[in-house]
Parts: sequence; C-alpha cells; structure tokens
Amino acid sequence: MTDARTANSALVRAFRSLPSRDEDHGPDGARRVPVWFMRQAGRSLPEYRELRTGVTMLASCLEPELASEITLQPVRRHGVDAGIFFSDIVVPLLLAGVDVDIVPGTGPVFAEPVRTAGDVARLRPLEVEALDPVVEAVRLTVEALGSTPLIGFAGAPFTLASYLVEGGPSKDQLRARTLMHAEPETWRALMDWAADVTGTFLRAQVLAGASAAQLFDSWAGSLSLADYQAHVAPASARALSHVRDLDVPVVHFGTGTSELLAAMRDVGADVVGVDHRLPLDEANRRLGGRTPLQGNIDPALLGAPWPVLEAHVRDVIARGASAPGHVLNLGHGVPPTTDPDVLTRIVRLAHGETDLHGEPEES
Ligand code: CP3
Repeated sequence: MTDARTANSALVRAFRSLPSRDEDHGPDGARRVPVWFMRQAGRSLPEYRELRTGVTMLASCLEPELASEITLQPVRRHGVDAGIFFSDIVVPLLLAGVDVDIVPGTGPVFAEPVRTAGDVARLRPLEVEALDPVVEAVRLTVEALGSTPLIGFAGAPFTLASYLVEGGPSKDQLRARTLMHAEPETWRALMDWAADVTGTFLRAQVLAGASAAQLFDSWAGSLSLADYQAHVAPASARALSHVRDLDVPVVHFGTGTSELLAAMRDVGADVVGVDHRLPLDEANRRLGGRTPLQGNIDPALLGAPWPVLEAHVRDVIARGASAPGHVLNLGHGVPPTTDPDVLTRIVRLAHGETDLHGEPEES
C-alpha cells in the first residue's frame, strides 16, 4: 500500500506521471530512468537455480522465506528499482483447489481442463485465509526491501481462463476463443470466477505491502479488439476493482497487444506495459499522450553484442521520454539463457552511470 518509504521512489513517481527529482539524475546530469525486468527472478540467475534445487516451482511459491529470498536476489544483484513478487499467475488457482502443476520447460498444466458449464459450476472461490503464505512472503520481502518498492502481480482473467480451458499452454488459445463464442454464458461465468480469484490474490499482496501492481494478460494478443472489449475487458475491470480502493498504481501488460493498448488502459489501469512490437513513442500516441508506459526492450537483443543492445536500449529510453512517465523493462520476460551481467549493465545505463563495465558505482 502507499508507503512513505516507497511513495517517492523513482518507480512509483514514474507510474504516477510525476516529474523526476534532482536525486534521480545520474552523474552526468542525465535523467535516471527507473528499471526492472519481467521474470528478473528466475533461471537466468545461478543463485536462483541453486535455491530451487529439489523444490518444485509451486512449492517454492508457498514457502514464505524461500519466495522472499528469490524475490530479493535480482534486486541485490542488479540494483533494479523494484522487486517483483516471486510467485506465479496460477498460484491463486491452486489455492482455490484447482489441480495444477507447473511443468519445467512447458508451463502450467491442469489435471482437468474446464470446458463445460458443469466444470465452471464446480470451481470454488478463493478463501482469503488460503493466501496466508503469500501474505507472509510479501511482508518479509517488503521489510527487507525498505525504500525499494515491491510490485505485486496477478494474471488477467483471459490468460488464466485460456490455461484452464486449454488444460495447459497453447499456441493461439483456440479452444478458449471458441468457448467464448459458442457458450457466452459459460465463458462469462468462468471469467467472473477467474476475476475474483485473481483480484483476491492481488489485493492480498497490496494489503501486505506491495507498492504497485501488475496485471499480466500475456495471451490477450490473440484477440481482436471487438472480442477483447465484449468478452474480456469486463472481467479484467472486475479483477482490478478488487484493488481500486487501495492507492497503488496498476500496470496492465500483454504481448501482441498493439491494437488493444487503449482498451487495456480503460479497464482501470494507470500504466500500460508495451511489448517489443510497437515503439514507445507510437504507443504513447495511441494512448493520447496521457498514460505512463512500461517497456519495451526486445528480449531477443539481450543475446546480441553489447553495442547493438546499448543502441537499442538508448532508443527505447529516448522514445519512452515522449510519455508522461516511463519505466524501462523488457517487452516480455527475461529468457532463461540470458547472461545476468547484461541485465546489470542495462540497469547502469538506465541509471546514467558512465562506467558500464566495472564495479557498480556508489549511489
Ligand atoms: O521475476 C518475475 O517476473 C517473478 C515472478 C513470475 C513468475 N511467473 C515466476 C515463474 C511472474 C510475474 C510470472 C507470471 C506468469 N506465469 C505469466 C505472465 C507473464 C508472462 O511470462 O507472460 C505466465 C503466462 C505464467 C505461466 C508460466 N509459469 C509459464 C509460461 C512458465 C514457464 C514454464 C517454463 O519452464 O518455461 C511458468 C513457470 C515460472 N513462473 C517460472 C518462474 C520463475 C519458471 C519455473 C522454474 O524456474 O522452474
């Protein structure tokens, strides 16, 4: 929640379109652009792989000390401007009694896909008490982070419903999109259930101390604007209504969503996350110049030679400056094969440090 220790952080100020402060300028006077990376915690870090040895993904999400430590690892290593809570979009489904596992290299897999009105009717609500391990992990993390904000997150109803209907990852969410049209009432009931489960998960994180929130609609890019507005936006608005009374900025992110950006803002988001497909100045134009942006380094370039990547990052920062606020991030998550030192270098570049190779400068 709004916290005196994080309210003036560069990240929260950018999310709120507030001007940067004097201390947010680097040694050469350049503006310090706040930065974090989606999936900054995870397999790109050797210290993460070590901690996860012998513990399944979902078990590690429900062990508060472990989830907290994993959240803190990239903040310590890279000096990013925020932690993103280590969990997964399917954790609240698991805690609501859904039989789901995360299969390494594949993603979430469900024992029983949800495809009929009867399947939807059997889904149970998420009880707040079931979230105790999540609340405990957020508390520990916020305490350790001090003035660095923690971003809480949740999956958007469409992305969750896609996984549930498909029974696992899919290329184009075909079954889910068929259900949306073939059985609109079943679809609507499933989306409302998902909105409340994921909204409850997000609210618990914010009440436990997260200073910002991000809704991930990773697969929304498979939808037309008309389908998004008719069959998805009401449920995303319902999910966000769970945190509306809490004074935290909300980011809404999806991939392949260049045509959906305004609709995604209009469900009640303060900030729009942009993937690598659309330059930020064009995204800003599409949003009428009044919405802070997050993004959008192409993850593919993390594996390119540094001069190529550096030019790209500088271009992203220059285009992002056209928006009322900009938080630097990738256009999607950190690929597991990424050299973590490359991420640290990007942070130094965003922070206006001149020595991008040596030891971190004191700040
Ligand atoms: O640093 C962070 O961003 C922290 C937490 C985080 C995870 N998942 C941890 C995780 C977040 C924000 C997510 C969100 C998530 N999970 C999304 C939305 C964002 C996106 O990437 O589009 C989605 C679609 C999922 C579902 C999911 N969970 C997938 C597709 C996978 C990858 C499967 C694989 O092995 O390739 C997961 C597993 C997962 N979630 C991992 C992590 C660190 C990898 C598990 C591991 O390390 O063994």
